[in-house]
Amino acid sequence: MVKYEKLLADRAELFRASEVRELLKLTEGKRIISLAGGLPDPRVFPKEELAEIARDVILNAGDKALQYSPTAGVTEFRKALIDFMRSKGVKVNDDDSILVTSGSQQALDLLSRTFIQKDDEIIVELPTYLAALNAFRLSKPGITGIPIDEYGMKTDILEEEIKRLIWLGRKIKFIYTIPVAHNPAGVTMSLDRKKHLLEIASKYDLVIIEDDPYSFFVYDENVDVTPLKTLDKEGRVIYMSTFSKILAPGLRIGWIIGNKYVIDVIERAKQTADLHTATLTQFIAMEAIKRGVVNKTIEKAKELYKVKRDAMLEALDEYMVEGAWWPKPVGGLFVMVFLPSYDIDTKKLLPEALEAGVAYVPGSSFFANGAGWNTMRLNFSFPKPEEIREGIRILSEIIKKHIPKEKKKIMPEHIFYS
Ligand SMILES: Cc1ncc(COP(=O)(O)O)c(C=O)c1O
Repeated sequence: MVKYEKLLADRAELFRASEVRELLKLTEGKRIISLAGGLPDPRVFPKEELAEIARDVILNAGDKALQYSPTAGVTEFRKALIDFMRSKGVKVNDDDSILVTSGSQQALDLLSRTFIQKDDEIIVELPTYLAALNAFRLSKPGITGIPIDEYGMKTDILEEEIKRLIWLGRKIKFIYTIPVAHNPAGVTMSLDRKKHLLEIASKYDLVIIEDDPYSFFVYDENVDVTPLKTLDKEGRVIYMSTFSKILAPGLRIGWIIGNKYVIDVIERAKQTADLHTATLTQFIAMEAIKRGVVNKTIEKAKELYKVKRDAMLEALDEYMVEGAWWPKPVGGLFVMVFLPSYDIDTKKLLPEALEAGVAYVPGSSFFANGAGWNTMRLNFSFPKPEEIREGIRILSEIIKKHIPKEKKKIMPEHIFYS
């Protein structure tokens, strides 16, 4: 037998599968209420429309749609995407460019490879999107986490941390944020915080990466979702988004918009990864925009997910243990629950929950500093409302058993994030 482990690059060490993912894999095919993943409800997929579009595209534009295409993306699709973005209030400047990526996960990987070298510093939110952390970690940066609360990243702490990093001589490459309907925390950044974040970025000459898969479907009225990209006057925001939640993740279409210079560099990084994103799905997505299918899907998703979000919030109100706390998400797919005692480690609780028929993601995986072990991320887009209710009921029963009699380690709410 070949000893492959001796041949692998050092970086292959960083590809290790997480224990949580391995545990959740064991549940595949079993009757489990999954509050774990971030999957759209398949009822949202516009199957009839996509079938018709795919047929039309292959038969009428097949010579192009089945061919290789430019690394930056199919030219007409890039134009259609820019119009789509502008229609959603995202400012695209004359000196900006757009790059189509294979899902926005690829954008995260390309940003990691383009910006970060070993021992650079990056700044993320505490908690932040796990797969972004994993993509960034491959380039071995130092990672500084900034706590968030209901209004998003705590920008006063951000400035203190930046000063500290500068004092330590660290080279800060970017600040990564998910301002609207945060994954995993569900919170949305206030307009004041966004302005403050941009002021700080300007003062210390830093780049912001704005990851925005969720601002298209916000369920409540009067929520400010102005993108940082739109507020930015200095070309320091790199904006990224995806069709995964507003059309279908199986198409694997995402995009990055930013200053032309940097997008050109990222495009060259993409060339070595996959030459280009699938031409066929770009053509399909382009037609879906043109025929109004994307906007229709967004409306359908909003309607369905609002009901499910409300079902989750109601079930949490009814069943969850006393002292647990969760910010109300105005959009997106997730609620993050903060349990009232640091004595409960949600990672240790997971096997018991799976045994009882419910899956969730332990929150600590989302914290760059390893904190958050008393938190859990719950998804409401995939399960049915009655499953959400039952799942929360079961989960609460399990948690109740583990609440220590003496709640000696209860922490004040504001420390839950750090
Ligand atoms: C914040 C965030 N960024 C990026 C992604 C990746 O999306 P995709 O690669 O499907 O476009 C997700 C998916 O859940 C996400 O929540």
